[in-house]
Amino acid sequence: MKTFDNYSKYYDIFNQEKNYSQEAEYVLKLISQHVAKCNSLVEFGCGTGKHAVHFAKHYTICGVDFSPTMLEQASLTIKEHKIDDDKVKLICDNIQSVKLDQKYDVCVSIFHVMSYMQNNDQVLAVLKNARRHLNESGVFIFDCWYGPAVLKQRPTQRIKKLTKGDNEYIRLADPELAIDQNIVKVHYHIFELNSKTSQYNTYEETHIMRYYFEPEIQLFCQLSGFELVESHAWLTEEHPGEDNWGACFVLRAI
Ligand SMILES: C[S@@+](CC[C@H](N)C(=O)[O-])C[C@H]1O[C@@H](n2cnc3c(N)ncnc32)[C@H](O)[C@@H]1O
Repeated sequence: MKTFDNYSKYYDIFNQEKNYSQEAEYVLKLISQHVAKCNSLVEFGCGTGKHAVHFAKHYTICGVDFSPTMLEQASLTIKEHKIDDDKVKLICDNIQSVKLDQKYDVCVSIFHVMSYMQNNDQVLAVLKNARRHLNESGVFIFDCWYGPAVLKQRPTQRIKKLTKGDNEYIRLADPELAIDQNIVKVHYHIFELNSKTSQYNTYEETHIMRYYFEPEIQLFCQLSGFELVESHAWLTEEHPGEDNWGACFVLRAI
């Protein structure tokens, strides 16, 4: 079983406070600044489709994700938002190797999908594949964990408690920093309790997250046919820094 196959059941519950519409607007603004005429967009790691439904209001889109259970949820999200079937295509595949039957003006990969690429081969495989699927001067926009912030702030144990209907959910995130590999192993322990029946479920899953530094992004760009055109602290127009865990990079196909 892959990461997310179990977690997908809880994914939207634990991210219910995430402002997907604000994030999509931020990415749409970057697209308008960097792409003269955008008609088509491919999203790498589209998950449950919460950004995709915003993008589909503007472009024809294709969402790729290797988790069938995340994509099942994405289909429901698309139905709920009454998006026409011909506006969104969902493909279950690995973003490192998927071969789509068309090229796109923009590729986006949001909410730390690139941080799931643990080693250089995986990072390069995704970048080269994004490049392969872009039209001339197309852009690839992604966010990821940002090294200087991770090393300054250090990952800490976090507990999230949420209620949905009769169910209470507790998620403990227990991070383990592997400083010589630029990764953090985040061990999730999830507890789900039905307050009416007192029945409960527990499960555990480890997500291995890579943090990046700008010079290595520049090198990855050179090796995959991109130039780095902009970087920002996530959801801002500022340069990435130690205070913001997330960074956003805009790459142009050359
Ligand atoms: C943190 S979630 C982000 C999902 C969505 N972009 C969002 O903002 O909610 C990371 C997603 O990346 C997908 N993913 C990770 N590695 C992948 C790979 N190699 N190929 C395809 N999908 C991948 C996971 O299945 C998951 O849906």
